[in-house]
Amino acid sequence: MCGIVGFTGTREASPVLLEGLRRLEYRGYDSAGLVTGTGADFHLRKKAGRLAELAREVIARPAPGCYGISHTRWATHGGATDRNAHPHLSTDHDIAVVHNGVIENYAALKQQLVADGVAFRSDTDTEVLAHLIARCYDGDLLQAVLQATAMVKGTYGLAVMSRAEPGVIVGARLGSPLVVGIGADGHYLASDASALAGFAEKVVHLGDRQVVQLDETGYVVRTRDFDAVDMPALDIAGFLGDGDAELGDFPHYMLKEIYEQPEALENAMRGRLDVGDATAHFGGLNLSAQQLRQIDRVIFTACGTSYHAGMVGEYLFEELARVPAEVEYASEFRYRNPPIDRNTLIFAITQSGETADTLAALRESKRMGHTTLAICNVVGSSIAREADGGVYLHAGPEVGVASTKAFTTQCAVLAMLALYLGRSRHLSAAQGEKIIADLQALPDVLRETLRCHDRVKAIAAKYADARNVLYLGRQYLYPGALEGALKLKEISYIHAEGYPAAEMKHGPIALVDEQTPSVFLVPRGAVFDKVMSNMQEIKARGGPVIAVASHGDREVAAVADDVIPVPDVPEYLQPIVTAIPLQLLAYEIALLCGCDVDKPRNLAKSVTVE
Ligand code: G6P
Repeated sequence: MCGIVGFTGTREASPVLLEGLRRLEYRGYDSAGLVTGTGADFHLRKKAGRLAELAREVIARPAPGCYGISHTRWATHGGATDRNAHPHLSTDHDIAVVHNGVIENYAALKQQLVADGVAFRSDTDTEVLAHLIARCYDGDLLQAVLQATAMVKGTYGLAVMSRAEPGVIVGARLGSPLVVGIGADGHYLASDASALAGFAEKVVHLGDRQVVQLDETGYVVRTRDFDAVDMPALDIAGFLGDGDAELGDFPHYMLKEIYEQPEALENAMRGRLDVGDATAHFGGLNLSAQQLRQIDRVIFTACGTSYHAGMVGEYLFEELARVPAEVEYASEFRYRNPPIDRNTLIFAITQSGETADTLAALRESKRMGHTTLAICNVVGSSIAREADGGVYLHAGPEVGVASTKAFTTQCAVLAMLALYLGRSRHLSAAQGEKIIADLQALPDVLRETLRCHDRVKAIAAKYADARNVLYLGRQYLYPGALEGALKLKEISYIHAEGYPAAEMKHGPIALVDEQTPSVFLVPRGAVFDKVMSNMQEIKARGGPVIAVASHGDREVAAVADDVIPVPDVPEYLQPIVTAIPLQLLAYEIALLCGCDVDKPRNLAKSVTVE
């Protein structure tokens, strides 16, 4: 987590830093800070709370100077306070550091520094770096950063300045992303390219264990052994996504992104459905026809909402491609050593492409020699670059912390991949054609589904006081139930649990009373009657029922207290269609609870720590 922006050049640094941080706020938003330099003087400003607090502070007490570094924080070590906000300074204020990542051996390093007489001003792990770099400093900031980082264990994206070297910024990366930006006014550092849109023209992605020194006139990337590396500088346009990151007329990014889903699906499918051969095509999979035929198992690994999409993928690959598939939490998978043979394909699913656990799982799989692919939204992200191949979602920038359009496009991409794999095996051309027609119809189906918004709003008003909510579905809609519950938890702070509808008899049914609503996902399908029985079991115990059901389903209406109608689609596409009312329900309830929908407490969009 945490976002870093640095600038050194011919214009005032603080407006660039604040604008860059605004675009990186999705990485963390509990405090923010910056330091600029004029000659050998540093100007430090930092504040707990949202970036607006820092911006106000900089208006009240301007931070002059044409070079500086800045940070938006998601707390790991130490609470969200002014003093724990970055940048952190060395004892005599000679060195300033901002850091994304975790210094795992900070306690031992701190103990040693304290024993040597260093007084710490914060509770962060990062402050040890400021003191270590100051101690290593002998007239060359880059060398000092190299020596200090050699002493730490953990992960870091760093930006560092020294009062003795005005105009110079040193960056270093191990496990946390960092890009160098090259612009007409100077040089930049940032956690991702989106922070530099409109500022830099080219970007250079730093590799792990690389360091960079920037000043107004140029930059040099080096290895830990001090060898200069010639890294490609790429056009920034290729890394800015293909959608609009501005809010427009919507009150929140989450709502905007919910409404963008029909178009996001069109973009995700564009050019990939091959009607002639009744299959799908992907430019970047990098798999030979022989490799494709040899695949006998697929493992999806992911976190959060992307994990739920992976669960949908499990059902899709088994049904449409007849390939055994399973999904693993990346944070678990990376530390397990499951038996995996050469013909197993490993897919990392991630919106951001930066989630630390998913990245680590991918690297561990690669280290063991497996073919790893990514399903990813952010172009040029760490996972997109490190996977052997993959598929971009083309969903456009997702800004709201609670994932919406990434989930539905992930499900659609997984359906296309299952079609592709299925057609290389048992699926007939006629079956392939049917799947393509279903997928092509989906954007319009979602447009129709969005018409449920007013109904959902009224239902939200009825249930916004609930303290517990159950989400229940079966088969493809079991992951749909998990995702619906996650949405509500994330943005309204109401406890919600997703369960396979039949499994609720083995525990969660004990929660059911008049105040505990259950949201049933019950569109028509093979298990419809079974889910109806589960609904009756809840009603028999006095629990209110909200049903997401097929348009005009009287059987459901006769039992449920409230019904949200959705259009009928084949079962394998139901998680996509039913996601819409669940996203809207969470959104409307969160608004009624007075929550900050786009920036829920304690969360961040991109989780770059373990
Ligand atoms: C965070 C976000 C979630 C997201 C998860 C995985 O927890 O708040 O919305 O699903 O990370 O992120 P990824 O970018 O890997 O899909």
